[in-house]
Amino acid sequence: MKHTLPPTRAVTKAVIPAAGLGTRFLPATKATPKEMLPVVDKPAIQYVVEETATAGLTDVLMITGRNKRALEDHFDRNFELEQALIKKGDKQRLAKVRASNDLTTMHYVRQGDPRGLGHAVLCAAPHVGAQPFAVLLGDDLIDPRDPLLSRMLDVHEHEGGSVVALMETEPSQIHLYGCAAVQNTADPDVVKVTGLVEKPDPAEAPSNYAIIGRYVLDPAVFEVLRETAPGRGGEIQLTDALQKLAADEKTGGPVHGVVFKGRRYDTGDRVDYLRAIVQLACEREDLGPEFRNWLVRHVAETVPSGIA
Ligand code: G1P
Repeated sequence: MKHTLPPTRAVTKAVIPAAGLGTRFLPATKATPKEMLPVVDKPAIQYVVEETATAGLTDVLMITGRNKRALEDHFDRNFELEQALIKKGDKQRLAKVRASNDLTTMHYVRQGDPRGLGHAVLCAAPHVGAQPFAVLLGDDLIDPRDPLLSRMLDVHEHEGGSVVALMETEPSQIHLYGCAAVQNTADPDVVKVTGLVEKPDPAEAPSNYAIIGRYVLDPAVFEVLRETAPGRGGEIQLTDALQKLAADEKTGGPVHGVVFKGRRYDTGDRVDYLRAIVQLACEREDLGPEFRNWLVRHVAETVPSGIA
């Protein structure tokens, strides 16, 4: 019998910036990284690392900072806890404890002086080298049933250059995102990116296509980032570096966008975070039925009739 190996991707490394202070979630984030806040019963960051493994990537570099030790502990073995569960014969919980350290090979580098997303990505340069790589932002959770990263890696294999994830948003919300000017291609879910602007005023936005936090980047981005001056908010913006790549295809090739229509949960601010938990809890096989029943009753009892 002939054995075939799984297809190997040109991209093997993922970078996850996780150095932010998480001030929107204080006091919860005073001593706990915001990435460790649970979404139902798993830290938000674990969903993101699982996504890299599902897409076939084998190496994750996390860009961390002070106060982020818990991230390293979470993706490492916990010998005492494992022994205690083995002693008790609790195989189910043992599997849950082990799941996070069996996912991938993890590496960490500290950003030190946080100067924006572009600067965080630049900290990955020595680890990534001259290979294309993925970047995943922890505030965006993509439902595993709607694979986005694999599609972006396929587009990257065909088109080269860089690929960003885009989602159509309400024009009134575009000031919260990087925004892309685009041209259609023969693929209905792929666009050519002709320009990018970070968090534009709605009146000046070139479209309602928002960058959601997934990127496949050509390593030429590092050279551009080194020369990118602080932009919006006084920070070195990844969007500004990508704008330069889109404007000059000779350095780093074109920039394409994959238009995502699947389920995305935002854990970046408190209300969206609560929405993400409720949505995901409702859909869980184990918790969903009981939680949905309670939720329906709770809403009926607490929302006065006539108020949506
Ligand atoms: C970052 C990027 C922005 C992107 C967004 C997606 O902004 O700078 O271009 O649209 O992530 O979540 P942040 O939300 O970190 O301010």
